[in-house]
Amino acid sequence: MLMKMTFPLLSLLIFISQHILTCDAKVSSIIVFGDSTVDSGNNNFIPTPLRSNFKPYGRDFAGGRPTGRFSNGRVATDLISEAFGLKTTIPAYLDPAYTIKDFSTGVCFASAGTGFDNFTSKVFAVIPLWKELEHYKEYQGRLRQYLGTQKAEQVLTEALYIISIGTNDFLENYYLLPKRPSEYNVEEYQKFLEGIARNFITNYTSWEHGRYP
Ligand SMILES: *[C@@H]1O[C@H](CO)[C@@H](O)[C@H](O)[C@H]1NC(C)=O
Repeated sequence: MLMKMTFPLLSLLIFISQHILTCDAKVSSIIVFGDSTVDSGNNNFIPTPLRSNFKPYGRDFAGGRPTGRFSNGRVATDLISEAFGLKTTIPAYLDPAYTIKDFSTGVCFASAGTGFDNFTSKVFAVIPLWKELEHYKEYQGRLRQYLGTQKAEQVLTEALYIISIGTNDFLENYYLLPKRPSEYNVEEYQKFLEGIARNFITNYTSWEHGRYP
């Protein structure tokens, strides 16, 4: 039974990895929102204790240096970027070492420790999701200035948007602190988070098309 299960799974993984590593589809840029699963260093530039800018983080990163990624090396979105023939790493929007030129082919707004719920981001004073969206809006303005409106629109509409967020709403908030459990049972809290997720998608897609709510 175990063998029967293992082989298809293994071949599926090989299939996926081969196809990801040689992706033919074209995207202009990768635009990332979320938490520590995809943060490429934004938390280094805000006053939060939740950082990973020390060893052994980054020991397998180019140069063996910690970057603020919660990883020994790159994070999944960096690998996806490379698979699409873009940069091998996606720069953090708040890192002053990068300019709009760097961000024009990939940018990361993620912040470790954040969640859908505003209260989750307050636990470690990290960037709330609504603020990630504000940064994205600011980024759009900078991109239009840098590339001109038409080219910028093209980059924004042909970009791949990745959102990786949600576990912290339970791990560092609902199951840890009394506030949300006193207001919602688990099912209600899930509905609350779903509502925020829905709003987020609606807002950023309307921003993507230049219709600011
Ligand atoms: C989170 O905070 C922002 C800014 O204060 C606010 O606009 C938004 O409505 C809040 N979200 C929820 C679900 O309360």
